[in-house]
Amino acid sequence: MTTNKQSLSAFHHRSITDRAEFWAEQATLIDWHKPFTQVLDDSRLPFARWFLGGETNLCHNAVDRHLPTLADKPALIFVSTETGAERTYTFAELHSEVMRMAAVMQALGVERGDRVLIYMPMIAEAAFAMLACARIGAIHSVVFGGFASHSLASRIDDAAPRLIVSADAGSRGGKVIPYKGLLDEAISLATSKPDAVLMVDRGLAPYALVAGRDHDYAPLRDQHLNAIVPVTWLESNEISYTLYTSGTTGKPKGVQRDVGGYAVALAASMKHIFCGNQGETYFSTSDIGWVVGHSYIVYGPLIAGMATIMYEGTPVRPDAGILWQLVERYKVTVMFSAPTAIRVLKKQDPAWLTRYDTSSLRALFLAGEPLDEPTARWISESLGRPIIDNYWQTETGWPILTVAHGIEKTPTRFGSPGMPMYGYDVRLLHEQTGEEVGPNEKGVVAVLPPLPPGCMQTVWGDDERFVKTYFSSIPGKLAYSTFDWGVRDDDGYYFILGRTDDVINVAGHRLGTREIEESLSSHAAVAECAVVGVADTLKGQVAVGFAVVKDPSLIEEIDDRLKLEGELMATVDRQLGAVARPSRVYFVSTLPKTRSGKVLRRSIQAVCEGRDPGDLTTIEDPSTLEQVRQALAGR
Ligand code: PRX
Repeated sequence: MTTNKQSLSAFHHRSITDRAEFWAEQATLIDWHKPFTQVLDDSRLPFARWFLGGETNLCHNAVDRHLPTLADKPALIFVSTETGAERTYTFAELHSEVMRMAAVMQALGVERGDRVLIYMPMIAEAAFAMLACARIGAIHSVVFGGFASHSLASRIDDAAPRLIVSADAGSRGGKVIPYKGLLDEAISLATSKPDAVLMVDRGLAPYALVAGRDHDYAPLRDQHLNAIVPVTWLESNEISYTLYTSGTTGKPKGVQRDVGGYAVALAASMKHIFCGNQGETYFSTSDIGWVVGHSYIVYGPLIAGMATIMYEGTPVRPDAGILWQLVERYKVTVMFSAPTAIRVLKKQDPAWLTRYDTSSLRALFLAGEPLDEPTARWISESLGRPIIDNYWQTETGWPILTVAHGIEKTPTRFGSPGMPMYGYDVRLLHEQTGEEVGPNEKGVVAVLPPLPPGCMQTVWGDDERFVKTYFSSIPGKLAYSTFDWGVRDDDGYYFILGRTDDVINVAGHRLGTREIEESLSSHAAVAECAVVGVADTLKGQVAVGFAVVKDPSLIEEIDDRLKLEGELMATVDRQLGAVARPSRVYFVSTLPKTRSGKVLRRSIQAVCEGRDPGDLTTIEDPSTLEQVRQALAGR
């Protein structure tokens, strides 16, 4: 099907005009225990249900299905340059480990539909835990290991997990980051309490077990070494997982996904977009705490019968050749990373790129933040392999815009993530009128419902918020807003121009400025504050805070200001995690606001980036922006 001369635009057209036939065809890429009776139910848009009545299982498709052909072939390759650990699990071994983990979860009372929160570093057990949940029909909710107690507590409260799986510590850049203290604090802050906590002890940081609640994994695993845990067949629209993501409010949204639609979407993307084949190795440098880790570290590659590398470490330790060394060692054919990682490597000796044999690599996919042209050009020339930018979101689970070389070898264009993928009816809409904009005109990137398989079903526990957040911002149209600005050129290539909301993107990590503001405001000295994302050559953006203190005498001297700034950063570290720490917090006596009291974040951001602050007709006091300028200048 993919080798004949069909064009991407014809493929895309068919996916929109004949959804049922198109997706029924894609659905043959996975195993079904019971066939579906209806491909799509779009009678309650924007809610869409896919493959109704069909029964399947993500773990079966990722693991069991491959046992007859790939039992002794690598499935999961765990590499930690932090601890020196390196181990390959074959599909047969992965199958056993997942069943052991599933048996332990069941012994701790986890049942179908229960939530299991996974707060873990990049170790093999984290993937076992995700797959074990999928196997028994429990709903996993992975929380990024870089988040701290407040972030974790709000997610515990929203998900109300029966079980939390964690580990003693993660490690980054050679520094051990103990998890258990943060976890205990989060549980004490949360109103909802888990019945049990399961701890994987890596021997990195000592911790105490809470009697009656906490259990070490190793002895329990020993008790279930020969466990046989059959797959629980789930109706396609049952919930596979929730994954929290930031938006404009301080309260993260639980993006909820189904089982069958997600499995089909991933299988199709592995074939048409990533062009990964069974028996090959896939390497994504992301983290299981993010959507890329769900779709393209754990589920996607395994569903395609590929070995997947789980890498704990940075791109520059022990040296800047480590990623390419892994490509050589494991003959990686498909690689996935973020522009930030490439910008980090660009600062190192380019010789690292040619030291290893990377000829196995067919393409390097980059996503998560804008891929600037110089970075794209540099890596493309240095690596001599196609660089494929792809644009998507936690909400969609797989690419919205990219090229699909499994369908057609469309040339890529620097600065553009490509064109709409099959299944997505992408439109660029005028923010105020809701009308479609023409070529080379800026509009909001929107998708007309139904969203294709694999995209979020709803916000966990809050259908109303799903409709209100995503489908109500474009006037006169029921359209999914990505909250990104975009433009399309005359040839149909899209370009992403940044978010329309207060979400920022720091080194490919999506953060809500509101959450950071809430954290800064929790410090007793702060009266109010604003956080904006400011362009950064390495990280894409960094968070910068502006705070008004209750008692100005606290910040009279430069030393006082530095001390308070340090305290505020430590507050964010403790509550949200270092990933959300602002690069600077400046002090001003008043924040720039409109006459109706709305903080002018866009204008502050423009000033920080040395741009024109734009239309200031509604500003209450123009001197407040001057204060921002002076604070930045250190006066
Ligand atoms: O603003 C867009 C940016 O990242 C946001 C989604 O982030 P997240 O939910 O973490 O999902 C990442 C999945 C890869 C988008 O709304 N973004 C993502 N990819 C790109 C991008 N911006 C520009 N180019 C991209 N390729």
